[in-house]
Amino acid sequence: MNYDFRIDAGDKPTMYRDLASALKGLVTGEPDGIANMANAAGLIYETLPDVNWVGFYRNIDGELVLGPFQGRPACIRIKFGEGVCGAAAATRQVQRVEDVHAFPGHIACDSASNSEIVVPLIRDGELLGVLDIDSPKHGRFSEEDEAGVVKLGEILVMAV
Ligand code: SME
Repeated sequence: MNYDFRIDAGDKPTMYRDLASALKGLVTGEPDGIANMANAAGLIYETLPDVNWVGFYRNIDGELVLGPFQGRPACIRIKFGEGVCGAAAATRQVQRVEDVHAFPGHIACDSASNSEIVVPLIRDGELLGVLDIDSPKHGRFSEEDEAGVVKLGEILVMAV
């Protein structure tokens, strides 16, 4: 297995397509969810420009608990409904936030973060957790990014 993925970040649809196929390649055949989340966080963090945190919160008995990630150490437990991740878990809807400082209850783990996207991971009606990506840039995540990250989430629900 070659772990040296070189993905051109220039054209977003192509970049997300390449990222999705690299992610599929990384997780296919590996049943360990923690290993897959760890590699997914590394791959996404290394590929997407202008991100400072990529990682997972897992739904453990109705609370979000920090999982594998890349970036600065982060808060460990988040209640459903709290902050951006908690909103994604409570509503089961993607949260794409242009300015996290304007988001009610936003949890500032890294003061460098200014925008954020959180995708709920749902398999067979069960919320497994969320994928959280933060950026130091305001409005970093467009609708194209959302479509791309949602696709990554679809791969991940089968792998975590
Ligand atoms: N900002 C998030 C908390 C998690 S960190 O960004 C890693 C939130 O408000 O849910």
